[in-house]
Amino acid sequence: MCLLTHPDDIESVLVKNAANFVKSRNYQVLKLVLGNGLLISEGAFWQRQRKLAQPSFRHESIAGYASVMVDSARQMLDGWHDGDSRDMHEDMMALTLAVVAKCLFGADVSREADKVGHALRDVSAQLLAMPNVGFFLPRFVPIPSRVRLRRAVRELDRIIYSIIGERRAMNGHSADLLQVLLDAQEQGDQMTDAQLRDEMMTLFVAGHETTSLTLSWAWYLLAGHPEAEAKLLDELSTVLDGREAGVSDLRALPYTEMVIKETMRLYPPTWVIGREALNDFEVHGYRLPAGTNVLLVPWITHRDVRFYPQAERFDPDRWSSDATHNRRLPRFAYFPLGGGPRVCIGAGFAMMEAVLLLATIARRFRLTLTPDRSIDIQPLVTLRPKHGIKMVLHERPGGS
Ligand code: HEM
Repeated sequence: MCLLTHPDDIESVLVKNAANFVKSRNYQVLKLVLGNGLLISEGAFWQRQRKLAQPSFRHESIAGYASVMVDSARQMLDGWHDGDSRDMHEDMMALTLAVVAKCLFGADVSREADKVGHALRDVSAQLLAMPNVGFFLPRFVPIPSRVRLRRAVRELDRIIYSIIGERRAMNGHSADLLQVLLDAQEQGDQMTDAQLRDEMMTLFVAGHETTSLTLSWAWYLLAGHPEAEAKLLDELSTVLDGREAGVSDLRALPYTEMVIKETMRLYPPTWVIGREALNDFEVHGYRLPAGTNVLLVPWITHRDVRFYPQAERFDPDRWSSDATHNRRLPRFAYFPLGGGPRVCIGAGFAMMEAVLLLATIARRFRLTLTPDRSIDIQPLVTLRPKHGIKMVLHERPGGS
């Protein structure tokens, strides 16, 4: 196993020599849940699926989702009250799940979002709670956590297959990703129900937890940095002047975006990316054999003082367009969304969502940490807060 921390070496694996690497074996455990969806599939099959899904993630296709994002946040805020204390990790998970359900799979899925949410929570809990030894045992060995996981996956499958069945029967035209995937079948690129299920499950899982973690960590960081919070609020009140944010405001909210970028630098939700070499390869002057596992860890590279002065400091301004440091940064000194051909397909969606949700919530509420809780990280598949992030809500008079 080999850990690469220099941006040039990361670029060599993810971009320049991408063809020599496949996802490492520890992604295989996700197969129990995600099947052969985009995150895990390889080769010609992956290429075809990526080509099919890609148009739905283009800027023009996702712009229409902005109002769904803001509406979902507003609905959540209707249940928030001044002085309440809430777990931001839980609230952000529920919010981003509702967004992904509505945007990608349409109204019929969002009706089931609660059920999907419960089933997904069960699946993640079982998957992540599985003892490490479980990963190395053959699939047929019925260890209890695996049995529970299979049960939770069966429930999720039931919901997803019934949604696919209903949509096929409707023969209608919705403007969502599920429709794009269904339509693709009619153009001769057959996608079976099982494959549709794998892609939907992948987008559900990959498309909500990471964004919810970005927001959770952003609230945590803002609470500890009042000067950054003040700048954020200043931007929101100047640009929005008391109204909700929309897609046309995105360009006018650079500081909000910088808060998100800086949060993902310090707390990259996907804190580790793994690859396995197909053939011998050379990196940094060393020759390494086929089969070597390569670890790329944004958490480490993002905190490297060679690239980030005062690297441990939360400083959104380091991303401002006139910061000189910004211009000198090697391309892969920052890679929270991966890179190369396997770069996150939802990158644009995620940035738009994170900025709009942060803006919508921050102009209505200030969040402070409850004094009794320490915040610890739990680096599982994603970088979670171990005991959640308990925060107290302070309603801003009249919104910002
Ligand atoms: C802040 C939020 C997000 C982060 C930090 C994130 C991070 C990542 C990273 C690092 C990868 C590359 C993994 C690798 O190379 O092994 C990836 C891939 C992927 N992401 Fe995201 N992601 C986010 C949001 C989303 C959203 C919103 C969606 C979908 C709606 C999504 C869907 C996917 C899919 C399907 C892949 C696999 C792409 C492929 O291999 O072709 N992600 N993501």
